[in-house]
Amino acid sequence: MPLFPGGNPRTSGHLISAADLTRDDAVRILDTAEEMARLADRPIKKLPALRGRTIVNLFFEDSTRTRISFEAAEKRLSADVINFAAKGSSVSKGESLKDTAQTLEAMGVDAVVIRHGASGAPYRLATSGWIDAAVVNAGDGTHQHPTQALLDAFTMRRRLIGPDAGLGRDLAGRRITIVGDILHSRVARSNVDLLNTLGAQVTLVAPPTLLPVGVEGWPCEVSYDLDAVLPKSDAVMMLRVQRERMNAAFFPTEREYSRRYGLDVQRMERMPEHAVVMHPGPMVRGMEITAEVADSGRCTVTEQVANGVSIRMAVLYLLLGGSEHAGGSGNTATGTAETAATTGTAARTEEK
Ligand code: NCD
Repeated sequence: MPLFPGGNPRTSGHLISAADLTRDDAVRILDTAEEMARLADRPIKKLPALRGRTIVNLFFEDSTRTRISFEAAEKRLSADVINFAAKGSSVSKGESLKDTAQTLEAMGVDAVVIRHGASGAPYRLATSGWIDAAVVNAGDGTHQHPTQALLDAFTMRRRLIGPDAGLGRDLAGRRITIVGDILHSRVARSNVDLLNTLGAQVTLVAPPTLLPVGVEGWPCEVSYDLDAVLPKSDAVMMLRVQRERMNAAFFPTEREYSRRYGLDVQRMERMPEHAVVMHPGPMVRGMEITAEVADSGRCTVTEQVANGVSIRMAVLYLLLGGSEHAGGSGNTATGTAETAATTGTAARTEEK
């Protein structure tokens, strides 16, 4: 019986929403990702854990880092990888998600990583009975992007507590500020859910037009004054204004937006010395973040990309390779990753 994620029986065995993760699930993923990150320091960055398993990356929406990151994670775990981009496929001939899914099922895939413009598409795929494969949501509409929230939490735990000191720990009491286009952001929604589960206090800062209806019911604070919130933040996450999802004018001009909600060096100096600047990418330099801030040592954007590979390895490992251990303690999963790392060395020698 798959017990991961543990917070929602309907989607257990899949990763659809950050809200489905219990605190223990989340900490187990972060700890497993620490084990996976150690691999990145080795000359041969490969484990045999998912050898013989097939994973399809089903991308119906544009993506650079998420798609590459999943692919790198799958290859590092020795899975067979099939990349599917909707452009150039039968989807442009009108094929439905159901038919695409059943085609993949007929090919015997073990996991489907899906990015889709429609909120809810990964949930539908996981719960419809169309396929048996594990489904991992790589971003659906304005709904969820759980592996992004996990890699953000991993980056914060490393920076604010430390890679070793952070093991087994959550983000209790840390103050995280998320700034920008909350309305259209699946990254913001996933982060609010996960950070709340991990015990952090979240504040959203945005123009009123870029906050969703019902935000007062979310487990976070809301502010319109970035300068007032910065000194009380341990991490500040800047979001891109998602023009592709906008059908109206949400603010007067780009200049006005940057002046009130953009992060420049003067603003960054209001943050406590230990605080970090985060961004999921892609950044629009000069809009939500200036080039100086983006290139400063306090900005974790490239670290987030590197950490994304470790997080996706951990998720796929726990869903596919380590599922029989998922019911055990976090240590069991981590221990298994360690064992896999050791076996990896043996397998590599054998492969030469
Ligand atoms: C984000 C996304 O696609 O949701 N990017 C990402 O996955 N790294 C955010 C964005 O597009 O602005």
